[in-house]
Amino acid sequence: MCGIVGYLGHKKATEVLVEGLSKLEYRGYDSAGVAINTKENLEIRKFKGRLSVLSDDLEKNPINGGLGIGHTRWATHGEPSDVNSHPHFNKDKSIAVVHNGIIENYLELKEELQNEGYEFLSQTDTEVVAHLVDKYYKGNLLDAVYKATEKLRGAYALGVICKDNDKELVAVRKDSPLIVGLGENENFIASDIPAILKYTKKVYFLENNEFVHIVDNNVTVFDMNKNIVNKAINEITWDVESASKGGYEHFMLKEIYEQPNAVKETLIRRLDNNKCIKLDDIKLTKEDLEKINKVYIIACGTAYHAGLIGKYAIEKFANIPVICDIASEFRYNNPFIDNNTLVILVSQSGETADTLASLRYAKENGARIMSITNVVGSSIARESDDVFYTWAGPEISVASTKAYTTQVVSFYMIALDFGMKKEIITKEFYDKTIENLKSIDKKIEKVLSQEDYIKEVTKTLNKKDNAFYLGRGLDYLVAMEGALKIKEISYIHAEAFAAGELKHGTIALIEKGTPVIAILTQENLLEKMISNIEEVRARGAYVIAITKENHKEVEKSADKVIYIPDICDNLSTVLTVIPLQLLAYYAAIQRGCDVDKPRNLAKSVTVE
Ligand code: F6R
Repeated sequence: MCGIVGYLGHKKATEVLVEGLSKLEYRGYDSAGVAINTKENLEIRKFKGRLSVLSDDLEKNPINGGLGIGHTRWATHGEPSDVNSHPHFNKDKSIAVVHNGIIENYLELKEELQNEGYEFLSQTDTEVVAHLVDKYYKGNLLDAVYKATEKLRGAYALGVICKDNDKELVAVRKDSPLIVGLGENENFIASDIPAILKYTKKVYFLENNEFVHIVDNNVTVFDMNKNIVNKAINEITWDVESASKGGYEHFMLKEIYEQPNAVKETLIRRLDNNKCIKLDDIKLTKEDLEKINKVYIIACGTAYHAGLIGKYAIEKFANIPVICDIASEFRYNNPFIDNNTLVILVSQSGETADTLASLRYAKENGARIMSITNVVGSSIARESDDVFYTWAGPEISVASTKAYTTQVVSFYMIALDFGMKKEIITKEFYDKTIENLKSIDKKIEKVLSQEDYIKEVTKTLNKKDNAFYLGRGLDYLVAMEGALKIKEISYIHAEAFAAGELKHGTIALIEKGTPVIAILTQENLLEKMISNIEEVRARGAYVIAITKENHKEVEKSADKVIYIPDICDNLSTVLTVIPLQLLAYYAAIQRGCDVDKPRNLAKSVTVE
């Protein structure tokens, strides 16, 4: 997600800002910019593209000044472009703002401000903040920022400077990260520690609704009622490399832990009044939906596995037949595509070659194209009729984790919306499922709290070359993702099977000590799964079971049991995948594998 750096001190601000932003590149970005107080005015430079575009420009045409704010943008509202890049400013460029997060009520605020005569240049939500601060600015920047934030709903970390004072920087955070770096006669703000580590190891970690006022060399932190907060200074002991991973050993683990927040982002931004799904970016009307007689879901790898859950959800909630196919096979499978077909492409990167080629094939054959992707402005997003962004934040580790859970949540939302529009599901079911989705972030946290136990369980996989993943119904679909995850990062050969299918051949491979990971969360299939577990155990398998916490009886049949919190059967997928990710992660660590960069793999597969 976006990166923020702010500086007030004796050095040349542009140099500190560009250096700091370069240390935030790992967060992913598509444009970069700075605003500097030159004592005469605020000078703003911002460009779409790599940070080098900005730094080259600053080298050719330097800006002098010791106060500035900088930003790397990862597009959410509005495509990557110079004009949508931060900093954003008020009409006379006397106030500049950088922002990380989402202003949920920006449309409402924009309309209000437009009625008052404010003109908007960009498509971003952030620009409302610049105009709001302008509206409330009567010579006191801190007051103006206080008043502006009273109007904001959503998540934000903001850095604000004004032309009138080249020794004043204001910042605030709510639900988006922001720290303050304390130096010798210089101070910093940043969205993450690596940005400032070169200059200082002393930081304040800001809490929600804390405001920072930096004037000359003095830093004061206030709470939302303008009381001074006495912050403790934290000494950072990490180096830059581990700091960019937020203290986690690998990006994969960091991204596993980002899932509660990522799924919350996917959900919250499309809940109107916290109650009803509002698919803003999807123009499919009730009438369009009535005409659709089948859906194809097309994707590769982990995204394909999310698509399989999408098939289940759309068929169950919206009663539309769905074919889920692998992108590299789809075009050669004589697909039944016509004007009444909806094709949904799923891709984290939005650039996967086979998925893109499938999109073009489906479009040429008259289908309506929808995509679920994480990268704003990616090729797949640009070429689709409708786009559902997952808002998971950049995924750096090659092994996909938060992309999967957010894609699955996206499908649940789309399926619920379709089902409601088509009047297939009741309002009661719709409301209840949304309530369940809203509680899922906390439940993921509960699964994550068992990390030590899962790590311990993984030791039983040590020195094993094969593993089997079993499940029935939805659990089988998640088993497929679990098997892929362990294969790709730990190089243990793993296969997923529909548990009832095992005795039609594969059970011949089970011998003493063969690891079997069995998932059993579906109430109507529980007894049958227990029988399947007994079958493999009778042949010597070592069984690790994943089930809901109210099914303690599973302990009698399995060697180890990992529990997930109670959840309705339809949504258990988002929880059962978490232990499978951790199992894969620790299996890879035990075997000394390069977790974030597994052999032979690339993050974005742009060849067919
Ligand atoms: C596995 C993994 C891959 C991707 C696949 C599709 O962990 O990451 O299987 O899911 O290459 O990539 P996207 O989603 O970018 O189209």
